[in-house]
Amino acid sequence: MDEKRVEKSSTQNGINPTATLSHTSKDEKATMLQKEVGLVSGVCLIVGTMIGSGIFISPKAVLQGTGAVGPSLCVWAACGVLATLGALCYAELGTMITKSGGEYPYLMEAFGPLLGFLYSWTTIMVIKPSSFAIIALSCAEYAATPFYPACTPPQLVIKSLAAAFIRNTQNLSNGFEGATTSFGDVGLAFYNGLWAYGGWSQLNFITEELKNPNRNMPLAIVIGIPMVTVCYVLINIAYFSAMTPAELLQSPATFADRVLYPMSWVVPLFVVFSTFGAANGSCFTAGRLTYVAGREGHMIKILSYISVKYYTPAPALIFNGFLAIIYIIPADISTLINYFSFAKWVFCGLTALALIVMRFTRTHLHRPVKVPVVIAGLVVCVSCYLVLAPIIDKPALEYLYCTAFILSGLPIYLLFIHHTHTWSHSIMRPLTTHLQLLMQVVPPEKMD
Ligand code: ARG
Repeated sequence: MDEKRVEKSSTQNGINPTATLSHTSKDEKATMLQKEVGLVSGVCLIVGTMIGSGIFISPKAVLQGTGAVGPSLCVWAACGVLATLGALCYAELGTMITKSGGEYPYLMEAFGPLLGFLYSWTTIMVIKPSSFAIIALSCAEYAATPFYPACTPPQLVIKSLAAAFIRNTQNLSNGFEGATTSFGDVGLAFYNGLWAYGGWSQLNFITEELKNPNRNMPLAIVIGIPMVTVCYVLINIAYFSAMTPAELLQSPATFADRVLYPMSWVVPLFVVFSTFGAANGSCFTAGRLTYVAGREGHMIKILSYISVKYYTPAPALIFNGFLAIIYIIPADISTLINYFSFAKWVFCGLTALALIVMRFTRTHLHRPVKVPVVIAGLVVCVSCYLVLAPIIDKPALEYLYCTAFILSGLPIYLLFIHHTHTWSHSIMRPLTTHLQLLMQVVPPEKMD
């Protein structure tokens, strides 16, 4: 057995819950997450996660919220602009604080560990698994469609392929007729549009795995997000060219029947591909946040261990998948989207605020990317609108539950994290060792 194999097998056999592995020969990879994501992979991660279920399920909800075609298209474009502005702020934060974990390290740095914990608590337990569940539910819904052909009989043979190609614009000509003026309805339209754009902050979750993050993070953002925006606006124009708003509200499947018949079966197939990719991207980054929170002592330690074989945070990934399955059982897609968006924009606004605060409190930090502070100000204001408008206009219990959940992190923080108890260590230690042996995972090596 050569030196490398011996070292590897001793690592595997001598799994030790408290010690980190120290000695690594030059060509042997250190037992930690690897820096393997370059520019192309970065763009693919952003685009692949953003384009998922939303472009298929949100157009209907956006139209419901806005009431007319014109404002719908405006909401779609505005969501793209907002995602880009948000991502630019995150590029400054991500290149200034080069830790993985999305908003978590920035909130910790700007506002301290309590807010960092509330973020990781809510995101790990609600935001990430619920988004995983939404994507999986949409994937399943479309995967099942072709097997129930009798439910949507394709009668619209007349307006087939040709309809798409002549780009029928009559639905667009008086596009602002019937627009809603309700503050909250437009907010909900934004929730759904922004769901389709969700994933723009993906790279901030894996900063430690990016090659040359100072260059690749901002570049991937300015390439990826505008690309998705153009794509989404064009797809919506295509929807409205082929269908009247009333038809779109009835059933999004009509589009496929009308434009692609007799090939309409390709649509569910593409939805399955697209959602599968988004599920993959979401799962990838959710695992990284859980891993970082475990490393900081905000989640149980085993969640920060990595697989000796694949160099991935296996326990964190499995944990996220497990929670997502629980969310799938009772939930329906639109309730999940409202839950998800509410919590997400609370923290997004706080993160943009963190950028502004750190301009004053962390003046010494090097900022390879520096965005005009008004952009961060704008993101804060829009986040306030997104969080408050639906509550003020149509108060629903789900927002209260969500707030209660976020705040339930407080006693947990005080009980288990602020004061560590010896009894919790003595319970956790044997459990950790067993799980380590089962999953073949070890603590990551220290970075330097
Ligand atoms: N935009 C994706 C979709 O339309 C959802 C991405 C959710 N994931 C996330 N990390 N925000 O399905």
